[in-house]
Amino acid sequence: MCGIVGYLGKKSATDILIEGLSKLEYRGYDSAGVAVIVDGSVVVEKYKGRLANLEEKIDSNKLVGNVGIGHTRWATHGVPSDLNSHPHTNENQTIAVVHNGIIENYMVLKEWLQSEGYKFKSETDTEVIPHLIDYYYEGDLLDAFMKAVKKMEGSYALGVVCKEEPNKIVAVRKDSPLIVGVGEGESFIASDIPAVLNHTRNVYLLEDNEFVLMEDGNVKIFDFNKNEVKKEIYHVTWNADAAEKGGYDHFMLKEIHEQPKAIKDTLTSRVVKGQKINLDSIKITKEQIAEIDKIYIVACGTAYHAGVVGKYAIEKLAKIPVEIEVASEFRYREPLINERTLMIVISQSGETADTLAALRLAKSENARVIAITNVVGSSVAREADDVLYTWAGPEIAVASTKAYVTQLIAMYIIALYFAENKESIRSTEIDKIKSELLNLSEKAAEVLNQKEKVKAFAKKIYMDKDMYFLGRGLDYAVAMEGSLKLKEISYIHSEAYAAGELKHGPIALIEDDTTVIALATQEYLFEKMLSNIKEVITRGAKVIAVAMEGHDVIEKSVDDAIYIPRVMPIVAPILSVIPLQLLSYYISIEKGCDVDKPRNLAKSVTVE
Ligand code: G6P
Repeated sequence: MCGIVGYLGKKSATDILIEGLSKLEYRGYDSAGVAVIVDGSVVVEKYKGRLANLEEKIDSNKLVGNVGIGHTRWATHGVPSDLNSHPHTNENQTIAVVHNGIIENYMVLKEWLQSEGYKFKSETDTEVIPHLIDYYYEGDLLDAFMKAVKKMEGSYALGVVCKEEPNKIVAVRKDSPLIVGVGEGESFIASDIPAVLNHTRNVYLLEDNEFVLMEDGNVKIFDFNKNEVKKEIYHVTWNADAAEKGGYDHFMLKEIHEQPKAIKDTLTSRVVKGQKINLDSIKITKEQIAEIDKIYIVACGTAYHAGVVGKYAIEKLAKIPVEIEVASEFRYREPLINERTLMIVISQSGETADTLAALRLAKSENARVIAITNVVGSSVAREADDVLYTWAGPEIAVASTKAYVTQLIAMYIIALYFAENKESIRSTEIDKIKSELLNLSEKAAEVLNQKEKVKAFAKKIYMDKDMYFLGRGLDYAVAMEGSLKLKEISYIHSEAYAAGELKHGPIALIEDDTTVIALATQEYLFEKMLSNIKEVITRGAKVIAVAMEGHDVIEKSVDDAIYIPRVMPIVAPILSVIPLQLLSYYISIEKGCDVDKPRNLAKSVTVE
C-alpha cells in the first residue's frame, strides 16, 4: 500500500511528481522519494518521513529533468528508513523502480539473484525488481521488464525509468491500482486519478497484467504477451476541486459536509418517487433473486459497519438471511458458499486486499458477487458480477465519512430492490421508505447545522482516556462506527457495546465521570435504552445522548443531548452517525492530532 506517480513530458518532472505525490499521501506517508533522469543519469532522492521532508531536503537544482517516477510509502517489508524508501535501483543505478504492493516470492528471487552476484542494500521486497530487470536487460527496457514481471508473484503497480532509455517509462499493474494520464505531449502514471487531475482529465484505467510504455509523449498499452491493447479513454468529469480541501481546514471536515450531496447523488436515478428501484448496473434477475438462500456481506473497517446496517435492512425488507463478517476472518475459515449464496462486498477503495480475497473465494465457489464501491474501475468493481457505485466522490481523509453514508444508501437500495422483486413486504411500506430516503439529504444538512453544539461537547471531553458508545439495534451498528472514528483520529480508547449486554461485563468499567455516548434513535427501543442510560448514570457516568426530535424527555436523564430530525428508524443511521463523526473530528482538533492522516493508518489497505 503506497502511492506511485510517473511523468514524461516537457515540464519539470520533479515538480509534477511532488505535486502528484501530495495527492497520494493518503495511501501512506512513511517515506517519499523520486527518481529523475538528469543529463542521461538516474538521480534518486528519497527520505524517511512525510513528503514535506523530501521537499525540504530535495535539491531541485540537481533534479532538473523531464522524466521521472515518485513514491509515497506505507511500510510493509522493512521499517520506514531512507534506505528502505522507494525508488529502488540496481547496483550501478541505471534502473529505478517504484512499487505499490508486495512481491510474495521475493525471498526466493533474492537468493537466486544473490547467487548470480547481485548485492542488496535494503530490507524490502521491492529491491528484487530493479535487479531482475537488470538481469534480463539486453537493450530493450520493455522486454526486460516483461520478463522480470513474469517472475514475480504477488501484487504490484510498478513504474520504471532507465538510464539507457532515458525517454521512456514502463509500468504495469496486478492487484494494485494504476491509471495512465494522457496529456498534450506528456503522459503520467499514478495510483489514483487526483494525482494527475491538474494536468489532464483523460485517463486509461488499466486492467491487471496490462503493461504501459510511455515514450516521447506517446502511450502504448500491451497485454502479457506483448500484443498491443486498444483502450478507451475515460474522461474524468468530477472537478479537480473535489479532490482538494475546498476551504475547509481538513479533508475530513469537508467530506463530512459533502454528505448531503453524496446521499443525493447516490440515490439519483435509482430511487425515484412512484417508480420501481432502477439498478441498470445490477443484472441479477427476479428468478435469480428468488433462488438466493443466504447472503454474506463481507468488508473491512467502516465498510464493515455499513454492512452491519445492511444486514438489518435486507433481513427486515427482503427477508433473506444475512451473515456479516470482516473479510480477514471470512477468507480463512471455510464458509458455506454455493451457487445459491450471494455475496455483497463493500469497499470504498475497491482495493482492500482481504475484501478482494473474500470476493475471489466466493467466486471460486460459484456464488454471485455484488460489489458496492466508490472507485470506478477498481479491482472489486472489475471482478464482481454486479457493481453498485456509491457516488461519494473522492474520499481523501483516512477516516471514512461520506463513503460510509453512501454505503448505507447502497445497502437500502439493494434491500428495497430485493424486496420489490420478492414482494416480501407491502408496496406501501416500500414507498414510505423511498420517500424517507429522498428526504435524507436535507435532513443530513440540518444535522450538520448543529456542529457548534457538538464542538462544545468535544471541548468538555477531549481529555478523557476512555469513552463508551452504547446503542440497541441499528443504534448499536452506529455506535460501532462512532467508536471506530474516535479511536482512529483522536487515539482515545473507546468501545462500542450493545446496551443490553452492558450488564454482562462492561458496566464494571463505568466509574465517576466516565463519558458514555448513548444512541437512542430507535423509537421502538427507546424505553429500554433509557433504562440502560440510567444504569450507567447510577454508576457515575456522564452521558451525551443522540436521540430523535420529540424525545426530549431524555434530557431529564442525561447531561447533554443532540437531536436528529424525525425519520423512520431504519434510515436513522444515516443521520445519527453525523454527530459522532463531528464529535471525533473536534476532539481530534482539540487534542492537536493529525486529523486527515492519523498515525499508523492508511486509507487503502492493499496488504493482508
Ligand atoms: C482502512 C481505512 C478505513 C476503511 C477500511 C476499508 O482501514 O482506514 O477507513 O474503512 O480500510 O477500506 P475500503 O476501501 O475497503 O472501504
